Amino acid sequence: MYKYIFNHITYVNLHFNFTTMYRSHHCGELRATDINEEVTLAGWVQKSRDKGFIVWVDLRDRYGITQLVFDEERTSKDMMKQAQTLGREFVIQVKGTVIERASKNPNMATGDIEILVSELNILNKAILPPFTIEDETDGGEELRMKYRYLDIRRNPVKNSLIFRHKVTQEVRNYLSREGFIEVETPYLIKSTPEGARDFVVPSRMNEGEFYALPQSPQTFKQLLMVGGMDKYFQIVKCFRDEDLRADRQPEFTQIDCEMAFIEQEDILNAFEGLTRHLLKEINGVEIDKFPRIQYDDAMRLYGNDKPDIRFGMEFGELNEVAQHKDFSVFNNAELVVGIAVPGGNSYTRKEIDKLIDWVKRPQIGALGMVYCRCNEDGSFKSSVDKFYDQDDLAKWSEVTGAKPGDLICVLSGDTNKVRTQLSALRMELAERLGLRKPNEFAPLWVMDFPLLEWDEETKRYHAMHHPFTSPKPGQIELLKTDPGAVKANAYDLVLNGNEIGGGSIRIHDKATQSLMFDYLGFTEEEAKAQFGFLMDAFQYGAPPHGGLAFGLDRLVAILGGQETIRDFIAFPKNNSGRDVMIDAPAPINEEQLEELSLKLNLKS
Ligand code: AMO
Repeated sequence: MYKYIFNHITYVNLHFNFTTMYRSHHCGELRATDINEEVTLAGWVQKSRDKGFIVWVDLRDRYGITQLVFDEERTSKDMMKQAQTLGREFVIQVKGTVIERASKNPNMATGDIEILVSELNILNKAILPPFTIEDETDGGEELRMKYRYLDIRRNPVKNSLIFRHKVTQEVRNYLSREGFIEVETPYLIKSTPEGARDFVVPSRMNEGEFYALPQSPQTFKQLLMVGGMDKYFQIVKCFRDEDLRADRQPEFTQIDCEMAFIEQEDILNAFEGLTRHLLKEINGVEIDKFPRIQYDDAMRLYGNDKPDIRFGMEFGELNEVAQHKDFSVFNNAELVVGIAVPGGNSYTRKEIDKLIDWVKRPQIGALGMVYCRCNEDGSFKSSVDKFYDQDDLAKWSEVTGAKPGDLICVLSGDTNKVRTQLSALRMELAERLGLRKPNEFAPLWVMDFPLLEWDEETKRYHAMHHPFTSPKPGQIELLKTDPGAVKANAYDLVLNGNEIGGGSIRIHDKATQSLMFDYLGFTEEEAKAQFGFLMDAFQYGAPPHGGLAFGLDRLVAILGGQETIRDFIAFPKNNSGRDVMIDAPAPINEEQLEELSLKLNLKS
């Protein structure tokens, strides 16, 4: 995978004036055509080999590695001695002549040459690094995070950051060409509800009051539309205090966008255009029109609002064909649903038992799994043969699309739960079967999300996207009678099973926005205190508007063929939200607490 990224970033290194007072060339540059050139290089000692009469040093910088040579015949005694003291990661500058290598290394870009050193300057010594600075390092995750600056010297991390730069640059260029204006919005703001907790900052000058760091610039970009900016974007840090996962960081970056005088179709076209451009420029993949799926269908067919459609294995709902027999587990279930696992009939009994254990793990939570083998001769063998005959099982295979040689896995229970469980199984099996190919790209719009989502904990409805999202035309009345059924003008962009962006057409009039806050359980006073500025603005001529935000970290990771966003962030936090390098968060001293009026509050 690492090679894959590297192929696409090499040009970033090449086309600029490189020479500085410290170096004439970089360490990835010199070739046989440069033989006899006098050059100056600077970098880090990757490794050195000392044979006594000859010393070879691999000199590394951002661009590559060049071999240096010192030998008894051609190098002064003093320099020879100095060369023998060079340790790993010493920072040095050398002047010398490019010469042909006696034994060439075809695996290295600079493998035809070496530098016969005439001058050696040790710019800085280095103590032994805590892990090897090589592509395959011996350092564990936590150690590499603590010494992230050393990790960044390694190709996989360095190249991920260069890759991110390239994606970001393409985004800026594309959106600027399309007439979007990049506007910065403040970080010290008031809470913007995006479904997570806020990080807050106490205000020294306003005792007992706090700023919230933006979960997104949502309200500001809407105010920019009221301000007449009409096409806005910003590559912007957002902050969310939520549980962390491979695709979530407490501070992350959005490509935040908004447009005025548009309909949903305009937004979809604009950002499909950007994504298509990135796939072509960065990955060399051309995709015509992105498919679209209704939220309800995504849930029915994949049990998930961000389905990975690089492979099939769609759900088949089996209630009609599997209930009303004598199998009470299925009869009592709200939903009986299965998937066909391609080639799964080759699994041994032991392997299937392991799969059953896998779905029964607390993280997945299924009570059990029924399976049915689809034999090559067209017959079936299920774990519930007692209740189902061959004709019944043939119907299962029809509904799930199973072919001879496949295995049908069936789960049952409460609809929402069982869909989530089967979705997890589908992804796990696809991973095991190698169907989630990193260099294959399958974007998908998921459309018409519900406006509201029931929260069991607070026993009330919450905005599924955010409270500024407009309901589908003509559905506002439904809020009174069947709030859960109201659909929103909201859409997500999904790439390879990851939500890389989401947005909506906004409410742009005060009356509807007030109504929405009312339905969400805000009193008039609360709504005014929190969002009065927005509703005020809506009274001064707010144009129809809508937008979307991409998660840049996720987008970059997926275009780079990976799913862990940490690898594409220079200084990420660990899973407990800590920066182990600078050791943050950390306590602050008494005076600071006092100054911020926090001392009393903490004690009381
Ligand atoms: P949403 O909350 O869907 O929408 O966020 C947009 C995108 O941001 C990414 N994302 C994250 N990435 C990394 N770590 C996180 N903790 C994290 N949380 C979200 C996802 C997501 O799709 N204001 C709206 C956008 C709009 O309506 O225009 C918003 O923030 O890729």
